[in-house]
Amino acid sequence: MKIARFTRLGFILAAAGSAVGLGNIWKFPYVTGEYGGGAFVLVYLITVIGIGFTVMIAEMMIGYVGRLDAVGSFEKLAPVHKNRWKLLGFMGFTGLMILTFYSVVIGWIFHYIVVTLTSLPSSVAEAEESFVSLMTRDIGTQLFYHTLAFLVIVAIVVRGVKSGIEKMNYILMPLLMLIILGMFFYAMSLDAFTQAWDFMFVPDWSKMNSEALVTAVGHAFFTLSLGMASILTYSASLPKEINLKRTSLIVVGLDTGIALIAGLMLFTFLFQYGAAPAKGPGLVFISLPAVFYEMGSIGISLALVFFIALAFAGLTSAVSLLEPMVQYGIDRYTFSRTKSTLLMGSFFYVVGILALLANSTEYGSYLTFGSKNLFDWMDFFTASILLPLGGLLMSIFVGYIMPRSQVRAALKNSMSDVFFTFWYMCLRYLVPPALIIVMINLLGIVPSEYIIPMFVIAYAVTAFFGYGNYLKEKKI
Ligand code: PHE
Repeated sequence: MKIARFTRLGFILAAAGSAVGLGNIWKFPYVTGEYGGGAFVLVYLITVIGIGFTVMIAEMMIGYVGRLDAVGSFEKLAPVHKNRWKLLGFMGFTGLMILTFYSVVIGWIFHYIVVTLTSLPSSVAEAEESFVSLMTRDIGTQLFYHTLAFLVIVAIVVRGVKSGIEKMNYILMPLLMLIILGMFFYAMSLDAFTQAWDFMFVPDWSKMNSEALVTAVGHAFFTLSLGMASILTYSASLPKEINLKRTSLIVVGLDTGIALIAGLMLFTFLFQYGAAPAKGPGLVFISLPAVFYEMGSIGISLALVFFIALAFAGLTSAVSLLEPMVQYGIDRYTFSRTKSTLLMGSFFYVVGILALLANSTEYGSYLTFGSKNLFDWMDFFTASILLPLGGLLMSIFVGYIMPRSQVRAALKNSMSDVFFTFWYMCLRYLVPPALIIVMINLLGIVPSEYIIPMFVIAYAVTAFFGYGNYLKEKKI
């Protein structure tokens, strides 16, 4: 079947729309706050450049050459054992798992748009009380907004790549960037900006430990939408002549830029009004509304545009979380788009209800397993395990299973020989060890104090051999 193709700009906006999401504006600031700022940001940045950018090119390439849904693309590109390698395509299922809590959070955001219009809480204590009460007691409100989020997501995906996904991103992404930039310039005019800057960019290594490292790596995957076939599926609809390296660079750059800008802006607001940065997932729902209230009348407008931007960011990512499995249903079972969307969507809708019930006082105990409840498990299991695992398998597939000549041919117009050599090195020797180290740490089989040195060694070895190779290529 012929797939409708994105335009070049349409693809960049859609891929950036996927990448820039709640991960950038909701999650990045609060994990940065929890892990103490600068050191965490630095590790995240190093991961984005060394691992994220490398895997982004690989993932885009698989979709671009495969031209099918993820399962079909892996099947097509695997030189041997096609039946086994195609199973990799089921990493798209991770998207449905992420959506279970993602949709609930988008629901909270919808609710906060309404709260802003009616009454902002006047103190952190009051804000905390109202957020906690929403999460733990107000099942009806959450259910209502989760349903609304589900309907909006489904309504866009049903329209397909061109008139649903591309069109939405054409409208929402420029608006989102405008709002965030506008708020950032306002933040720059406040005194606390330098404090926010120091918090984010001056590393405090005493706060660095293996847990922070794993979180930083997992977050890099989450925020770049890597390791679950979102980018791959979008790339199946890329226009024919496209430079994959440049396109990846733009998407990674936009995502990272927006995360840093959003982080600086939020911390400036928080510091300016004396709120604490380490508030966990409630950061933008607890500290921020109270800060907006303190600002007076401008605060209400800021709060409104902020939550609208957050909703935009969430929705453009949510559609990319659903699309891989929808495309799978269409390609594999010849489902109509509507049927496939409703079928796949109903999974995250139903499990999403369980995830939101897991936060409630009434049902929480039934939905708590070990140290976390279902909501937190979904977040932890997808971001810290499944996405890095997907990235690991994908880099092994492109780096070791596909013949080098085929990979080089696919990227012929996208990069020079020298860059290719370096990228291929990273893909083969840097990404797998680094991700395996992350997995080992999660399994807890190596004492955690060895994890960071192991990680640094992996980077150093690749840099050393990469530079050697570079010198060799240069002579040719
Ligand atoms: N990148 C999105 C965010 O930052 C989340 C996402 C993860 C989207 C994986 C698609 C795939 O919020």
